[in-house]
Amino acid sequence: MIATAFTSFVAAAACLPSFVSAHSHASKRSTSSNVVTFANDQAFLFDTDGNQIDAYATKINYFNTSSGPQYILYGISFAGPNTTGDGPLKSYSSVDLVNWKYNGILSDTVAGGRPHMIYNAATDKYVLWVNVDGGYKVGTSSSPTGGFEYVEGGGALYPGIQEAGLIGADHSVASFGDTAYLAFAALNFADPRAGSLWPPIFQTMHLSPLTSDFINSTLDAFNVTSPAFDGVDQQTESPDIFIRNGTMYIVTSNTCGYCDGSIGVVYRAATPGTPNADTQWKRDIVSGYSCGGQVEGVLPLTDPTTGEVTYVWHSTTVPGGVRVGFSGHIFQPLQFNDDGSVQDLDCSPKKQWQVPYTPGVGAVATGKLTEATDASPRFANYHPVCDSDRIASLYQTWTNSKTGVLREVAINVAAGYNQADFQVNVFAFSNLSDLVAPSYKYKLLGSASFTPDNLTQVFGTATVTLNATVTAGDMLGFSISEAAAPGSFSFANFVPFCHLEYDMHSACEAGDSAQGQVLFEQASGQNSLRGLHGNLSPVTIRQGKGIKFFSTVE
Ligand SMILES: *[C@@H]1O[C@H](CO)[C@@H](O)[C@H](O)[C@H]1NC(C)=O
Ligand SMILES: *[C@@H]1O[C@H](CO)[C@@H](O)[C@H](O)[C@H]1NC(C)=O
Ligand SMILES: *[C@@H]1O[C@H](CO)[C@@H](O)[C@H](O)[C@H]1NC(C)=O
Ligand SMILES: *[C@@H]1O[C@H](CO)[C@@H](O)[C@H](O)[C@H]1NC(C)=O
Ligand SMILES: *[C@@H]1O[C@H](CO)[C@@H](O)[C@H](O)[C@H]1NC(C)=O
Ligand SMILES: *[C@@H]1O[C@H](CO)[C@@H](O)[C@H](O)[C@H]1NC(C)=O
Ligand SMILES: *[C@@H]1O[C@H](CO)[C@@H](O)[C@H](O)[C@H]1NC(C)=O
Ligand SMILES: *[C@@H]1O[C@H](CO)[C@@H](O)[C@H](O)[C@H]1NC(C)=O
Repeated sequence: MIATAFTSFVAAAACLPSFVSAHSHASKRSTSSNVVTFANDQAFLFDTDGNQIDAYATKINYFNTSSGPQYILYGISFAGPNTTGDGPLKSYSSVDLVNWKYNGILSDTVAGGRPHMIYNAATDKYVLWVNVDGGYKVGTSSSPTGGFEYVEGGGALYPGIQEAGLIGADHSVASFGDTAYLAFAALNFADPRAGSLWPPIFQTMHLSPLTSDFINSTLDAFNVTSPAFDGVDQQTESPDIFIRNGTMYIVTSNTCGYCDGSIGVVYRAATPGTPNADTQWKRDIVSGYSCGGQVEGVLPLTDPTTGEVTYVWHSTTVPGGVRVGFSGHIFQPLQFNDDGSVQDLDCSPKKQWQVPYTPGVGAVATGKLTEATDASPRFANYHPVCDSDRIASLYQTWTNSKTGVLREVAINVAAGYNQADFQVNVFAFSNLSDLVAPSYKYKLLGSASFTPDNLTQVFGTATVTLNATVTAGDMLGFSISEAAAPGSFSFANFVPFCHLEYDMHSACEAGDSAQGQVLFEQASGQNSLRGLHGNLSPVTIRQGKGIKFFSTVE
C-alpha cells in the first residue's frame, strides 16, 4: 500500500514521451542559419557560465573589436547589496546574440547611470556616455569593452536646459557616419502641475547633435514632441535613436522608474541633419504597457543575404516583482507601415520571432553552462521563486548522463538581506519512490553553505564543488534550504532566498529536455506521514516545475 502511494507520482512527473528521451539540455537554437529567435516568455538572459546577465537598461551595439565585429551588451549591475541604479557598468560579448561571454566591469571611473556607447572613426575612440547626477559623464577608450577613462568637462549640455531649472536624465547617443546625437530627458521637479498622487514630475525629450569628437553636445537642444505637447509628450524618458530609410526615430517610454510596464512611444521625423526648432515629430503609441516593461533600446539587425535591416525593440521587464535586479528583457522586431509609422507591439505570451542577423566574427562563446553535462532547459520561461521561509527544503533530481567525476553543481540563487545561510546538499539515490519513502537515506556526495555575502542580489550561480565518482544513468539530486548562520536563529529570519523555476510544460513545447528532472518540496515542519490513510509522504512533487541548475562531470 505504501509502495503504491510513493510510486504513483512518477508517471505524472514525466514530460511528453518524446521529450523524455531527447538529448539532455541541447540547444534547439541553431546559430548556423543566421537567424536569432526572440520569445516573449523567455525574459531572463544568461551568460555562458550560467549567471543571469546583470545589465539593467541594456543596450546592444555591433562594434568592431580586436577580434572582429561582435555584438556587445551593456547595462547597469544590480548584483551589489545596495545598488540603486548607480552600480558598476558591465558588458558581455557575443557573435550570435545567444551565447554571451561576460567581459567584466566596464570602467572604474565612468559609472553610475545608463551606459550608451558610440564609436568615433576620426579619433578611433569608443565614447561612453553615462547619465549621473543630473548631467552626463563621458569616458573614452580604444576598446569597446574596457579601459574607459573619464573625460574632464565632457558631456556638456545645452545651457538653456540648466537655465530653465531642468535636469538631464535618461539618455541615448547614436552615430550615423560622422554625425552623432544625444537624446535626453530633461526633468522638471519644479513644475507646479505635479500631483499629490501623480505625476510626480514632468519631463520632456530633447535632441542635441554632438561635437565632432562625440564627447560634448553642441550647445543646442531641440524638443522631441508631437505638436500636441500633451501629457504623453511631457512624461518621456529612456530614449533610443535610430534612422530608417531617411527618417529619424526616437523610441521612449513614459515616466516609469523600474516599473513593470509603461506606454511605449515612437517619434519620427525627417532626418534632422541640422535639427531646427520647427522639426515636426509624428508620434505613435505602440503599446499601453510595453509587454510589462520599459523600452531600453533598439537593436538594428542586418540580414546578410538581403541587406534588409530589422529594428528590434527591447524593454527591460521585471517579471519577478519589484526587485530591479530581477529584470529580464523582451525583444521584438518593430513592424513598420508604408508611411513609416510603427505598428503596436505584440505582447502575447507565447509569441516568438525569428530575425535574420549578421553573425559577428570569431568563435561562438562557451562557458560552464554551455559545456555542462546535465542542466535544466537552456531556454525556458524562468521566473523567480522566493519561498525558502515557507519551504524547508526543495529537492531537484536529474539522471546523470556521463560516467566520470562530478565536479560542480551550480544553482541560480539570489540573496536579499538574509540572516540565514543558504545550504545545498548534493546526493545520489536509488529511485524516485525510494527517495520520498520513510527512513530512506541518500548518499551525500557533497555540500556547501553560502553566507548571504557569498551570493548576490541577482541570479548568479551558487556553485558546490565536488569530487564524486558517478556513472551514466545514476539518479542524482540536490536540496536547497535555509540554514541558520552561526549564532543566529533561522526561524526568526523572514527574508527568503530566491531561485529560478521554469514550467515543465512550456519547456517541453520548446523541445528542450529535462531527463529525470523532478522537483520535490518539503514544507516547513512536514516530517511525518500525511493523508486520511496515513500513507502519504510529506515530500511531494512540485508539479510541472523545475529549478534552474547545471552539473559538470569530467
Ligand atoms: C576592425 O578592427 C580590426 C582590428 O583593429 C581592423 O584590422 C579592421 O580593419 C577593422 N575593420 C573595420 C571594418 O573597421
Ligand atoms: C549595504 O547596506 C547595509 C544595510 O544598510 C550595510 O550594513 C552594508 O554595509 C552596506 N554594504 C555596502 C557594500 O555598502
Ligand atoms: C565641453 O564643452 C564645455 C562647454 O563649452 C567646455 O567647457 C568643455 O571644455 C568641453 N569639453 C571638452 C572635453 O571639450
Ligand atoms: C520645449 O521643452 C521645454 C522644456 O520642457 C518647454 O519649456 C517648451 O515649452 C518646449 N517647447 C515646445 C515648442 O514644445
Ligand atoms: C523608403 O522611402 C522611399 C521614399 O520615401 C520609399 O519609396 C521606399 O519605399 C522606402 N523604403 C522602405 C524600405 O520603406
Ligand atoms: C526502487 O528501488 C528499490 C530498491 O532500492 C526497489 O525495491 C524498487 O522496486 C524500486 N522502485 C522502482 C519504482 O523502480
Ligand atoms: C563564501 O565566501 C568566503 C569568503 O570569501 C569563502 O571563504 C567561502 O569559500 C565561500 N563559500 C562558498 C560556499 O563559496
Ligand atoms: C578526488 O578523489 C580522488 C579519488 O578519491 C582523490 O585521489 C583525489 O585526491 C581527490 N581530489 C581532490 C581535489 O580532493
